[in-house]
Parts: sequence; C-alpha cells; structure tokens
Amino acid sequence: MAILVVNGPNLNRLGARDPSQYGTLTLEAIHERLRARAAGRAEIRTFQSNHEGALIDFLQAEGPGSEGVILNPGAFTHSSYALHDAVADLPVPVIEVHLSNIHAREEWRRRSVIAPAAKGAIAGLGWVSYLAALEALLALRETR
Ligand code: DQA
Repeated sequence: MAILVVNGPNLNRLGARDPSQYGTLTLEAIHERLRARAAGRAEIRTFQSNHEGALIDFLQAEGPGSEGVILNPGAFTHSSYALHDAVADLPVPVIEVHLSNIHAREEWRRRSVIAPAAKGAIAGLGWVSYLAALEALLALRETR
C-alpha cells in the first residue's frame, strides 16, 4: 500500500515561487527526498493539480486503497468545502501540510477549512513539513 502525496494549486511552481515563503526546492525534489526517506518502509505515489475537481477525483479513486495521504491543498486550504468533504469521506489518515507557517501570515490564511477533516496538520517547516507528515503516517501505522 502506498502513501499518497497530493499537492494543490501553484505547488507545481515550487522552486521559483516566492522562495522566502516556500523555499528553493522544486516539488519533484521534495518528492525525491520523501522517496529516499520512505525507502523500504513505504511506496510513495505523487499527484499535483491546479484543479479542485481533479484533486477530488484522485482522492476518491486512490485514497481508499492507500495507507494514508499527505495533502498540501494550497490556497484551497482556505476555501474548498468540496475538498473538505472529500477528505472527510476517506477511511485513511490524511495529514494536512504547509511549507509556510499559515498562522504567521495574512489573516485569511490562518483558517483551514480542511483541518477539521484531517487527522492532523503540520505547517511552517518548509519541505520538512512533508517529512514530518511521512514519519507521522509511519508512526500511526505502528500504533494500529
Ligand atoms: C501553502 C499555504 C497556502 O496559504 C498557499 O495558498 C499555498 C501554499 C503552503 O504550503 O504554505 O499555495 O499551502
């Protein structure tokens, strides 16, 4: 069973996009680091889309058969009730991640409409937020 790493809008621009908030690694470089960290422990499957419906379609299709999901919903974090409902419908743990500390930025970024449906959330550690989420999912596996 795989761990899914799902990224929403504009995260395909990592590396070039506002490095002061999001760091200098590309999304593919983050994926590589996750694969290296997970080696021998879990398979990593990745998906990125700028489209709300495509993210929901992927979570519906692949989520139930997965071990868990690392989800950075991008700006959909703050607006998408549809993505909230898709996450709430999943029978596996979903860890919400953010590169930046959304609580230390604009007021509108402080609220996540996804968080109430997620198992937990990690923000502000740059690409290490993803690594922490991976370790969390693997640790949760041990406790099941
Ligand atoms: C983000 C934070 C969001 O507010 C923003 O819209 C993003 C990236 C992060 O990883 O810090 O696209 O999810």
